[in-house]
Amino acid sequence: MLLCVGGGIAAYKACETARLLVKAGAQVRAALTPAAQKFVSPLTFQALTGEHVATDLFSAEQELAAGHIALSDWAELALVAPATANLLARLRLGQADDVAAATLLAIEPRKWLLAPAMNEKMWASAAVQENLRILRERGARVVGPAVGEMAERTHVGPGRLAEPEVIAAAVEVLLGPHDFEGVPVLVTAGPTREAFDPVRFLSNPSSGRMGFALAEAARDRGAQVTLISGPTELPPVSGVKQVGVVSAEELAKAVDEHLDGVRVVVMAAAVADQRPADRAPQKIKKKEGEEVVRLVRTPDILAGLGARPQHPLLVGFAAETENLEENAREKLAKKNLDLIVANDAGAFGQEQSRVVILGKDGARAELSGSKLALAHAVWNMVRERLPR
Ligand SMILES: Cc1cc2nc3c(=O)[nH]c(=O)nc-3n(C[C@H](O)[C@H](O)[C@H](O)COP(=O)(O)O)c2cc1C
Repeated sequence: MLLCVGGGIAAYKACETARLLVKAGAQVRAALTPAAQKFVSPLTFQALTGEHVATDLFSAEQELAAGHIALSDWAELALVAPATANLLARLRLGQADDVAAATLLAIEPRKWLLAPAMNEKMWASAAVQENLRILRERGARVVGPAVGEMAERTHVGPGRLAEPEVIAAAVEVLLGPHDFEGVPVLVTAGPTREAFDPVRFLSNPSSGRMGFALAEAARDRGAQVTLISGPTELPPVSGVKQVGVVSAEELAKAVDEHLDGVRVVVMAAAVADQRPADRAPQKIKKKEGEEVVRLVRTPDILAGLGARPQHPLLVGFAAETENLEENAREKLAKKNLDLIVANDAGAFGQEQSRVVILGKDGARAELSGSKLALAHAVWNMVRERLPR
């Protein structure tokens, strides 16, 4: 793999990252931007990786030993750590004005793993956020940044380079075995909206993050992912077939339409259990006094799937405010699920979460971490139960 080092204060952490990657068995070649060389020495990377280090696009000697195009053809993955604000901008524009940027430009963005690191105000800037969004849309993967103390010590916020261990784990997932290669899976995400009239609805604060993380993790493990999502503000997950729905009924219909050949269904969507019995064609006018709304049940998608004689492996979610495990266990049995992920309803919209995963075979795992890490834990448990 290629390690492109940008010129940020966190460049010193790229040394430790290189060491961990080599230790894990990767063949690592480094390319340093001119700015990176003001922070760390190419010699450090040469010693850590045992490979030539690319530092100069116009060096006749380096071009002969391993030219930048040969380097891009060779790399299975390109880690950019730290990905500076400047480097992100250059990658978005397709600039090729140093050896790191020129090599990266000749590698498909889906093979890029970007580890941004910068001051929290730079990170929050519209330019950086837009550049990163576009790079993601082109297929680039992103790890971090972490939240915490900045190099300046007086600043705290998102922008710290992800820890070397976290970056190495992300590399391992991308380069590691694709244990779901070609397996069709279906994931649902986000809330549903149940309309009273054209402008009012019943819903919940689900952000869709958990479902999107599940889709991203499955894609990285080689699965063919269909993601059916209620309304969310999250950017689309590249490499995933995405279907947008609004109501529980639309969600049920979309699941049914995309079920062909699917081997695993993970229902992370926070589907409304009830909808208004009547939907007014026009906005309902304000009236005096109390009003009563009649609600009717929406279709129970999971229970419907679980009741079929032949069905995919089923994973449900239970968001509860009390008796978390007890309620989840009951749902697991009642709906004939293989696994259920029980989480505190308070985690709605958060990056991190704490869950208990229960299996119908009696398995129990209590985990906490980022939604992406939890998503991988869910897929690990699915893989163990998926018939070959
Ligand atoms: C002490 C110091 C620390 C810096 N740290 C960062 C940083 O953490 N992230 C960042 O995006 N830029 C940082 N910069 C600015 C970059 O070095 C500058 O934008 C440079 O042009 C980046 O070049 P490159 O992206 O080609 O490596 C820092 C600059 C200095 C002087």
